[in-house]
Amino acid sequence: MKFFIDTANLDQIREANDLGILDGVTTNPSLMAKEGIKGTDAVLKHYKDICDIVKAPVSAEVISTDFAGMVEEGKKLAAIDPHIVVKIPMIKDGIKAIKWFTDNGIKTNCTLVFSSGQAILAAKAGATYVSPFIGRVDDSNWDGVDLIAQIAQIYSVQGFETQVLAASIRNALHIVRCAEVGADVCTCPLSSILGLLKHPLTDLGLAQFLADAKNMG
Ligand code: G3P
Repeated sequence: MKFFIDTANLDQIREANDLGILDGVTTNPSLMAKEGIKGTDAVLKHYKDICDIVKAPVSAEVISTDFAGMVEEGKKLAAIDPHIVVKIPMIKDGIKAIKWFTDNGIKTNCTLVFSSGQAILAAKAGATYVSPFIGRVDDSNWDGVDLIAQIAQIYSVQGFETQVLAASIRNALHIVRCAEVGADVCTCPLSSILGLLKHPLTDLGLAQFLADAKNMG
């Protein structure tokens, strides 16, 4: 399973990248706004800065909701850097736009996916990634990881090549469970990635080893 970081914060992207296990970045308009990035030039530059750090897939989301607007915006985003993946919302014109980008050799990430039916449509349109939002599914009293498992099973049975990218990850257990049920990618906040490191027995064991090491000749 690939690890993406779900943030537009350059310091956090650098920190995750320095771990040596980062495979890409996802952003969205909320995450960009959180970093105070405003205006087209600043937005495009920020995506370029992210690409320069990770040199791996970086999802950049369109904010148009009509086919022509999404295609125009997506072309500009894709021109920033070869690593850009155009992120498109799961709406009717979005499916048309994904098909257009697929036919024109531009990678896409279909976002705001909450059902297996939506995931089938994204795959049929040739999306490179499909992004089910599992934390938000959990918030609405359904099991987000079950959705990942169902989509992974459908894609496997049907031979779809679209990668299942588990998004809206809220904790380390989400990552472990997504790995278990066959997600191709998990995009996570830095805190959830670092959460995988934690175990009290590791801390206790290391403290003991270091204490005993002082008694070594
Ligand atoms: O990748 C999608 C993600 O950014 C949404 O996460 O926590 O706002 O549901 P969240």
